[in-house]
Parts: sequence; structure tokens; C-alpha cells
Amino acid sequence: MALRFQNKTAVVTGAASGIGRATAKRLSDEGAQVVLADLNFDRAKQALSQMSDRCWAFQLDVSQEENWQELCRQLKQRGGLDILVNCAGIGITGDFEDMALQDWQAMMDVNLTAVFLGCKHAIKLMKCNESDSSIINISSVGGLVGGEDIAAYCASKGGVTLLSKSLALYCAGKGYSIRCNSVHPSYVDTEMLDPIASTLGGRETMLEAMASLVPMGRVAKPEDVAASIAYLASSDAAFVNGHQMLVDGAQLAGIPARHSA
Ligand SMILES: NC(=O)c1ccc[n+]([C@@H]2O[C@H](COP(=O)([O-])OP(=O)(O)OC[C@H]3O[C@@H](n4cnc5c(N)ncnc54)[C@H](O)[C@@H]3O)[C@@H](O)[C@H]2O)c1
Repeated sequence: MALRFQNKTAVVTGAASGIGRATAKRLSDEGAQVVLADLNFDRAKQALSQMSDRCWAFQLDVSQEENWQELCRQLKQRGGLDILVNCAGIGITGDFEDMALQDWQAMMDVNLTAVFLGCKHAIKLMKCNESDSSIINISSVGGLVGGEDIAAYCASKGGVTLLSKSLALYCAGKGYSIRCNSVHPSYVDTEMLDPIASTLGGRETMLEAMASLVPMGRVAKPEDVAASIAYLASSDAAFVNGHQMLVDGAQLAGIPARHSA
């Protein structure tokens, strides 16, 4: 495998599971020192066994500014930050009229406010870098189109989409060598789908139903998304900025023939 990230330091939030863990592994395999940042510190430490010995774990509640300040203090001491992947996220589904304010707020805190906090503190560190730095925010297809039973999730992910574009413009305007892009997966086979599986007749039935909605006929693996994130993090994407990258098996491309009128 190419070593595109030698001498680079990356922070991946939500790195204890799913897309975040696959991304941390991909960046580590390509030479990066990766900080696996997650609320679940035990699982983040366990995931280190799949990474190079340059990687370390940090207990981060992405919604808490003091946690980001402490992480950035440690990064500064260890030489700075080149890549930030804001991947931690939660999903709560249900009827909009029954949604509790506390569920709405939780989704905004973890999916959107946390991305603001991570970007704010990362930019302060990255703007001192001599070479290109990259921020990748994980949104969703639900950050580009609405969803009947996931209104709060879509609202939070739509916020991530436009925050990312705004920060691409902000950094370019300031003359910082920092790119900011968003990634938009559709269904990815991770633990985030567990609560839905229990309401859809089990995991296999759910995955089959989801796959039937994807023109490529399958849901994504976490590694599919990790590879796209690694591209955006790398100098191969040196002029890709403010971009919303779909990783959705063509789900949002249009109407498949079998569904057309
Ligand atoms: N799985 C999908 O189908 C799918 C589709 C589109 C987008 N996404 C997005 O991809 C990202 C990763 O999701 P996943 O599928 O890998 O989920 P996952 O549940 O496997 O992993 C999420 C991780 O985030 C961590 N986390 C949750 N709250 C946190 C907090 N407050 N602070 C720090 N860490 C916290 C969890 O501990 C967990 O390790 C999320 O932003 C999600 O919205 C997922």
C-alpha cells in the first residue's frame, strides 16, 4: 500500500467503531500517526491493536469544548495536526411529532456542534503548518436530501454540508493551506444500523432491503468510505476543496430504470 501519510498526524473521531475505525486503520496503514478519539475509550484502545504503534487513543466527547482543547494541547506538544476526520455521530429515528427536544438536542450536539468545535480548534493548529492540511467531515446522503423518519438527523447532517463548504471558503480567504470537504455515505454496514435492524426483522433482512434501494445492489462497507476519506486527506486531492463527496453506490444519481414511469 502507498504511504501517502508518512510524517502526518491525523485525528479521527468515532474511531472506536464502524467508519471511524476503518478510516483510522486506512490512514495508519498508509503511514499516519493516528489519534483514535472516541467517547468509548476502552474500545478505542482495543482498536489500537489493528494500527501501527505510532497511533494512540484519546477519550473525547466531541460535544465538549474542553475535551477538544485538551486534545489540541497534547497535539501541539507532540508536533501538531495535519488531518482531521470528524466521524463520530449518532442517529435517532422516529415520528417527527413525537420527537423529544432532548433527542433533537443530542443529535445537534454530537452531529453538528461537535463538528464546529473540532474544526475551530483544528484550524487554529493547522494554520501554522507549512504543508497542506485537510479536514473531512462525515455527513450523509441525509445531509443532501431529507428523510421521512430522520428529520433531526438530516437537519444536523445538512448543517455539516454547508459548514464544510463555508470553512473551505474561510480557510482559502484567510490564505490558510487547509482544505475542507464533506463525505456523504448512504447505508453502511456498521453498528449504527443496529437499532433499525431490530425493527426490520433482523440484520440480514434489513441489509437486503437496503441493498435493493441502491443501484449497485449492496450497502457500503466501512472500508469503502474510508478509502474515499483517505483520498480527500491526501495530496491526490490537493485542489479538491468545498466538495460534497457521495459514497452511495449511485443512490442519489437519479431514478433507476426499474422504477421509472
Ligand atoms: N452507518 C451508516 O449507514 C451511515 C450512513 C451515512 C453516514 N453515517 C455517518 O458516519 C459516521 C460514523 O458512523 P458509523 O456508521 O461508523 O457508526 P458507529 O455507531 O459504528 O460509530 C460511531 C462512533 O461514534 C462514537 N461516538 C458517539 N457519540 C460520541 C461522542 N459524543 N463523542 C465521541 N465519540 C462518540 C461512538 O462511540 C462510536 O464509536 C456518523 O457520523 C454517521 O452519521 C453513517
